[in-house]
Amino acid sequence: MTKPQIWVAAFLVLFILLFLLQRATKQEELQDSKIGMNTVPQSNISSENISGKDLVARVGCYNCHGSNLTGTVKGPSLIGVKEFWTRDQLINYLRNPNSFMSSDRFKDYKEKYPNVMMPSYNNIDVKDLGKIAEYLLTL
Ligand code: HEC
Repeated sequence: MTKPQIWVAAFLVLFILLFLLQRATKQEELQDSKIGMNTVPQSNISSENISGKDLVARVGCYNCHGSNLTGTVKGPSLIGVKEFWTRDQLINYLRNPNSFMSSDRFKDYKEKYPNVMMPSYNNIDVKDLGKIAEYLLTL
């Protein structure tokens, strides 16, 4: 072989090697993403480990009930609510507050917070609502 022919051959070999290397790494990536799809989604893991207190903070209850849940102009204090509620009642209340409006306490709230409505949280997982309820019952 002449010298130029050797150079051409060397480059060809180099290109083929690079091509094969690229394909090999691509397949690894594919396998990685397949493994990723089989693992549990992040949100499920974290929600398992969140305490009722953290949920209350994250969901935004503090906005109206205050950062110590002692109440603001937008919502009543939640300290001592255990006197009035069981865990299951609280879960039902959080899912559908409007169905609990008939008691005297709530008539007072209507006058005190005429422009604010306790939102319904039926989009939150019942398990998480259970944790929130349990936390409220410790206040
Ligand atoms: C937009 C303001 C607002 C937000 C946000 C809010 N609340 Fe309320 N909440 C109220 C108001 C106002 C009342 C009083 C009842 C009414 O007028 O609907 C109330 C009432 C309550 C009561 C009944 C209190 C009692 O005396 O029995 C509980 C329990 C409660 N909220 C829990 C929560 C929790 C837990 C969250 C967060 C997941 C939350 N609230 C988020 C405004 C709010």
